[in-house]
Amino acid sequence: MKHKTIIEPFRIKSVEPIYVTTEEEREDLLKKAHYNTFLLQSEHVIIDFLTDSGTSAMSAEQWAGIMRGDESYAGSKSWERMQNAVKNLTGMDYILPTHQGRAAERIIYGYLGGKGKTFISNTHFDTTRANIEFSGAEALDIAIDESNDTSLIHPFKGNINTQRLKDLILEKGAQNIGAVILTVTNNSGGGQPVSMKNTREVSDICKKHKVLFLLDCCRVAENAYFIKHREDGFENKTYEEIAQEMFSLTDGAVMSAKKDALVNMGGFLALRNKKIAQACTNLLIITEGFTTYGGLSGRDMEAIAIGLKEIFDPAYLRYRIKSTAYLGEHLHKMGVPVMMPIGGHAVYIDAKKLYDHIPVDQYPGQALACELYLKGGIRTVEIGSVMFGKYDENGKLIPASMELVRLAIPRRVYTQSHIEYVIETFQEILDYKQKVKGYKIVEEAKILRHFTAHFEKIN
Ligand code: F0G
Repeated sequence: MKHKTIIEPFRIKSVEPIYVTTEEEREDLLKKAHYNTFLLQSEHVIIDFLTDSGTSAMSAEQWAGIMRGDESYAGSKSWERMQNAVKNLTGMDYILPTHQGRAAERIIYGYLGGKGKTFISNTHFDTTRANIEFSGAEALDIAIDESNDTSLIHPFKGNINTQRLKDLILEKGAQNIGAVILTVTNNSGGGQPVSMKNTREVSDICKKHKVLFLLDCCRVAENAYFIKHREDGFENKTYEEIAQEMFSLTDGAVMSAKKDALVNMGGFLALRNKKIAQACTNLLIITEGFTTYGGLSGRDMEAIAIGLKEIFDPAYLRYRIKSTAYLGEHLHKMGVPVMMPIGGHAVYIDAKKLYDHIPVDQYPGQALACELYLKGGIRTVEIGSVMFGKYDENGKLIPASMELVRLAIPRRVYTQSHIEYVIETFQEILDYKQKVKGYKIVEEAKILRHFTAHFEKIN
């Protein structure tokens, strides 16, 4: 028989206990964390949806790889295996290992950036934007218009607006464009996929104007799933072939291996151009480490090499995408305003719609993140004006385009009953939504303020 139920395609071999806090305890813990979910202790969290980054459960094979790790300073066997896996996937000649994605970003955007340069993306992730802006350059987001309408159904809401891309290149001057960066899937834009057609168009535009085209590829396997099932002509290709085709259209790639490489730490920079690769290698040695380990232990590299294979397993990808959709579609049916269609690694709640009585300068997304913790011990993250808001010269908030809260699902970690518990919590969120108040920021850093900001409730 053909079963309807999609099971977790793995058995659990090693477990980690969850301590179940009470609502009273959480009230106190949240206050002590200054109403910032980043400042909570993980032992006080029941379901941790803060991020899908570095939180994957590794496979038995990966743990076996950890024991095989070759810790030689230079020329380690584990590096050779990681390098081969990355070369096979990206088709690129120059691979630089880094301790995580932002280290690769620091190197490449530090090199390409600087005052007067512009970087263009569907949506820059927060560390990507921060590294670009830190270099003195500007970072512009130009996803298609449909991407801002959270309820609109569109198969590839992560796509770049190609007309806008052409206009911007002409307006800024091609020589002033640091790079065009396609983020797959588009994390800050709701985890939405990018089509191969869009990638090809972006590639053609970049080639025509001699602009560097980079892939921020940390969820490239999840993106490949959507291409296979939503875009004509890919039905008979494997997920790995689809990812390889996407890389073939680009000049380079930055990867945080903490996502689709199923590891807890790691990343890389892959490049085709020798001159850029040499300049970046110099920076790598100064800040990360020698060329054959970057910021990584041999065992980490071993686990990445294995993870990059496992991620394309059809049974895994099917379970991954379907289980994220299971949560999202249940919430949608209950009347929770979720970003539709459901993305690959996370469910995004439109907090501006849910709490339409809280103005954006009182951070409705932060309010929802706090409520989810209070009611269910569920840790999430605001992706809205706390993360991306700026101030004008009068200190008035320039809000982000959306006020989202992300429920990012760690890979191979939670079972269906954990998800049912989350769905139940949302019923309570809906029942009490009118009572929820906004927040104000009482302490913040200049860069990436969401990590450390302190909040107070507005009464
Ligand atoms: N690019 C994207 C699209 C990301 O989602 C991340 C990290 C990075 C780059 C940076 O990688 O963390 O290894 O330095 N995203 C995590 C998240 C932190 O929660 O979405 P990193």
